[in-house]
Amino acid sequence: MVVLAVVISLLVLYVQPSDAVPEFSKGSEGYLIGVGRADCTGPIAEVPLLGYANPDQKGGGILSRQYCRTFILAERQNPTKRVVHIVAEIGMMSERVRLEVLKQLKYKYGDLYNQNNVIMTGTHTHSGPGGFAQYTLLMISSGGLIRPTLNAIVNGIVNSIDMAHQNMVQGHIFIGTGLVENSQINRSPLSYLQNPVSERRRYSSNVDKEMTVLKMVADNGQEIGMFSWFAVHPVSMNNTNVLVNSDNIGYAAYLFEQEKNKGYLPGKGPFVAAFTSSNLGDVSPNTKGPHCINTGEPCENMGNYCLIGGAKFCIATGPGKDMFQSTQIIGTHVYSKAKEIYMKASKELDGPISSVHQWVDMSNITVQLNSTHTGKTCKPALGYSFAAGTIDGPGMFNFTQGTTEGHPFWDFIRDAFLVQPSNESIECHKPKPILLPVGESPHENQLYGAEHG
Ligand SMILES: *[C@@H]1O[C@H](CO)[C@@H](O)[C@H](O)[C@H]1NC(C)=O
Ligand SMILES: *[C@@H]1O[C@H](CO)[C@@H](O)[C@H](O)[C@H]1NC(C)=O
Ligand SMILES: *[C@@H]1O[C@H](CO)[C@@H](O)[C@H](O)[C@H]1NC(C)=O
Ligand SMILES: *[C@@H]1O[C@H](CO)[C@@H](O)[C@H](O)[C@H]1NC(C)=O
Ligand SMILES: *[C@@H]1O[C@H](CO)[C@@H](O)[C@H](O)[C@H]1NC(C)=O
Repeated sequence: MVVLAVVISLLVLYVQPSDAVPEFSKGSEGYLIGVGRADCTGPIAEVPLLGYANPDQKGGGILSRQYCRTFILAERQNPTKRVVHIVAEIGMMSERVRLEVLKQLKYKYGDLYNQNNVIMTGTHTHSGPGGFAQYTLLMISSGGLIRPTLNAIVNGIVNSIDMAHQNMVQGHIFIGTGLVENSQINRSPLSYLQNPVSERRRYSSNVDKEMTVLKMVADNGQEIGMFSWFAVHPVSMNNTNVLVNSDNIGYAAYLFEQEKNKGYLPGKGPFVAAFTSSNLGDVSPNTKGPHCINTGEPCENMGNYCLIGGAKFCIATGPGKDMFQSTQIIGTHVYSKAKEIYMKASKELDGPISSVHQWVDMSNITVQLNSTHTGKTCKPALGYSFAAGTIDGPGMFNFTQGTTEGHPFWDFIRDAFLVQPSNESIECHKPKPILLPVGESPHENQLYGAEHG
């Protein structure tokens, strides 16, 4: 059964209207706030980097360390009512990391931190070592379980929680929003145009430019942390990169923390700044857009393919002259806007804290399409188009985005080496032709697969 754990933080509270500079004495009680940061860099050589699903893209050195950052908020009057939000500079969170962290928290803190109030996220950098997720496909592309990566992430997260737990102080939280310009493009603008006009009219752009920032200040006036949401893929680093790093929003966090922790080395100092992922699906930072790397022609067609060479030559770049400069430019935009919003944030958050955790069987959900028709979800399966990758990292061979027809050659390989999709799945996924029926693969439920390295 395919299940997805959803932790919804109901931190969203009532926003106190106020246009003035932060002031603590307006009757809002504030919270207990703890922040922590710890290194969670795994092995920096020989291990495949997680993100582009290319087992040959292995680490060969380091550009920046990966950090795990934790924010704990609790009610002042009732401090066991608390929520923990973790932002790890890794490809994505995995159930395996989550279970191991929760096990350690249980041992150290009893029931204080548990599956209901610990929210764990990855920033989605594509330049960190893999091997820490139990999902079949990620297992295959990382060459199995890499214990040193898993341990570094789990220990880094737990260390950052310990720090945040120990330094909780009475403080206040302010919220602000603003628009970040020139930092994102829609990876599939032609697909976006398939949305109804009435829906598209509601937005000024085909990407979400809004950034939300939380500013945390202790009662004694000391600034202790910044937390932000902004939708951009941290993939300024393309699939030729071999240096471990936390990409553009990791760079933004570095700049913010260096600014607030003057005199400290990177990754040190009391102020913690986190840039966390939000609705970043299909949002690319490579703002020059897709071009054929062989001819220089634009390739913004429905399948993102080049007339000469096919899809694998269609790649988006920019805004810098190379991926390192692009990482810095996007990171600097994001940082500068966050700082501006942070300085102006004056609406105070108030209200009780609660959180909910839910298991949802994503393979069996009925969706009401209109008054007469419903649709149903199915067991997961990756289509032919999945193998085409995206303009940020095309796949191999000549798979093309938007494909609705399979190919006997690949179907044969699939049936021989993986598993034949059931007729039920084929029917349910139509018109998407199934390449990898991962939801029907025998490995699907193996939480702990083969050990490696
Ligand atoms: C790759 O696929 C595209 C789109 O289906 C097609 O137009 C192109 O001819 C193919 N290229 C090669 C080299 O097979
Ligand atoms: C990746 O970026 C580098 C520049 O930093 C460039 O030389 C290379 O061609 C790019 N490769 C791909 C596949 O995008
Ligand atoms: C799917 O969900 C429906 C309604 O929630 C339930 O009756 C049915 O047993 C479920 N089917 C499977 C295969 O879990
Ligand atoms: C409801 O959706 C179905 C499937 O898309 C479509 O065939 C049908 O015409 C729709 N009915 C109405 C009333 O819009
Ligand atoms: C699946 O569909 C094919 C083609 O329609 C049919 O030959 C086959 O018997 C079906 N398999 C099962 C298990 O129903």
